[in-house]
Amino acid sequence: MNKRIPEQVIEDINFQSDIVEVISEYVGLQRKGKNYLGLCPFHEEKTPSFTVTPAKQMFYCFGCNVGGNLFSFLMKQENWTFPETIEYLAHKYGIELPEQELSRTQTAKQKQRRRWQQIYEWTADYYNRVLMDLPEGEPGRKYFIQRGISEETIKSFRLGFAPDRWDSLLLALQKQGVGFTELAAAGLALEKEVKSPGSGRIGYYDRFRNRIIFSILNQKHQPIAFGGRVLDDSLPKYLNSPESAYYSKGNHLYGINKAYPGIREKGFALLVEGYLDVLSLQQAGYPNTVASLGTALTTEQAKLLRRYTQRVVLCYDSDAAGTKATLRAGEILAEAGLRVEIPRLTGANDPDEFLRISGQESFHKALQAATTYIEFKYQTLLKELSIRTIPEKAELLARISPDIHRIQSPAEREGYERFLSLELGLSLEAVQAELKNAARNKVKYQPEDKYLPLKQDNYVKDRDNKINNPDHNSEMVPAVPLGIYRAERMLLRLILDNLAFLAVVEEQLGGDFWQIQEYQQIFRYLKESNLNKIGIIENNFDEKVQSKLANLLVEELDLSQPERILEDCIRVIRSSQEEESMLELQTRMTSLEKSGDLMGAMELLREMGERLKRGEM
Ligand code: UTP
Ligand code: MN
Repeated sequence: MNKRIPEQVIEDINFQSDIVEVISEYVGLQRKGKNYLGLCPFHEEKTPSFTVTPAKQMFYCFGCNVGGNLFSFLMKQENWTFPETIEYLAHKYGIELPEQELSRTQTAKQKQRRRWQQIYEWTADYYNRVLMDLPEGEPGRKYFIQRGISEETIKSFRLGFAPDRWDSLLLALQKQGVGFTELAAAGLALEKEVKSPGSGRIGYYDRFRNRIIFSILNQKHQPIAFGGRVLDDSLPKYLNSPESAYYSKGNHLYGINKAYPGIREKGFALLVEGYLDVLSLQQAGYPNTVASLGTALTTEQAKLLRRYTQRVVLCYDSDAAGTKATLRAGEILAEAGLRVEIPRLTGANDPDEFLRISGQESFHKALQAATTYIEFKYQTLLKELSIRTIPEKAELLARISPDIHRIQSPAEREGYERFLSLELGLSLEAVQAELKNAARNKVKYQPEDKYLPLKQDNYVKDRDNKINNPDHNSEMVPAVPLGIYRAERMLLRLILDNLAFLAVVEEQLGGDFWQIQEYQQIFRYLKESNLNKIGIIENNFDEKVQSKLANLLVEELDLSQPERILEDCIRVIRSSQEEESMLELQTRMTSLEKSGDLMGAMELLREMGERLKRGEM
């Protein structure tokens, strides 16, 4: 039973809201000229085909053809009704809404949620006041000073201290009209039986006593839960308020309320383990730091990060448990489509300690020198496994195989395969075959599994670097040289803008020259269907093609002199056909490897690297 929403409100929202701002709370958007591109939230995809056009305040996904405006986005994304969407946006942009009538259950639920919110507000304020102003907050103040936490951080994170008493919060909130039962229901007090003879009554006491209090804040800066740390080494180190209908720790990240603008600004998120790591890193100029609240990282948390960025730097503790957690978290993040990097913080157990011991400069350097998740995993595996024998090498490959297979870019994947080939002293074919085999068999590594020799062992080089069995059939994916990539991209875009160019291109280069496979498909499609407008393209392509198409269409390219550009692109592609192509280089390298000329192969690898640097690939 909703009252009609006044036109004026909708107009105000339209005027004040920004579709990019709102959508980027759900989707990691990357700017591409006048548009933005990201992974579509409405269908599973690993390559972005979701676009937002701020000039039109519209979104559109080339993958699943869903599009619309800000309202339809939120309704679809959050499963909200129109009035709910309006309410959210009005609140977000500070626009006043006339009071609405809600159903009875809605009202009751809303009332309880508001009440809990209020109780949490009072609680956060109370603990913060104890810490900042009251005499019983002295131990807390001392503790934070000792840990180097500033007053400003204490304020902005709404940190607090719970006095060493059984009833301080009970009494403080009683003054606000909060009953003991209510406080217990909200997870802030505990029940106990009163032992006086025959009473059978229940008494209450504070959950948090003599502890530092961390308020877990949502994006609106409101407390939704609390964590309490002891002041010394006693156990349990942390107590946390329980999960409830309004709070589940696997859905939140500590520090996100302050971090989300920072993550966007810095272009990556720093993910740490502890509350205190968040405080000291944010204080040290990394406002993009969040912690996973002491649980194993969840998919929800990874998705939350993906709303703001596509890159995560993992800074977990450096002990054995931390390493294990890093591997697990890295996997979950990569699975959610995030790029993961891991710095080495030597000489300290966690980033907080590292900052204290080595300073900001060193931390900055460590971040710059961070390795990719796969390199980190490789290094970790090296510590665990010996790689002297061929079966041991194969086992290592089997364990890293899922991570390699997750990589979308063929060029990047091949880079890793080459890295492994050099590291392990195996031929590229052997590495690729092992990886493929492991993926096909979905060999999930189990420590007690005995390694069974695989057929592919035949490809493996012996100690003299000679291949024992040259009868291989590797499936190399050629990397497209950058110059060609640019030329093809430009060409296809020109054709999409003006289909008359299609015939010109075909006449000059033929119909099958495209090295970017997806472009080849689009080109063929355009040729075969007599379209004169690209807008008509529907679900004819798979996800990768659609994504490439979307990318191409939203990219801002200077097309002011189409004829000249066309000529240039054709020339580039022609001349590359004459020169020894990257693919040919690769083939030559393979045969050198096979003949046992490892030095020669390395020489070619170096040349390929040089070309890369010159931007010729
Ligand atoms: P840590 O033990 O690393 O704590 O646990 P910390 O926050 O870094 O504190 P310091 O620097 O050692 O003093 C990492 C996180 O795991 C959760 C907390 O969220 C903590 O911040 N945790 C840890 C718990 O929830 N309960 C525990 O008993 C321990
Ligand atoms: Mn820690």
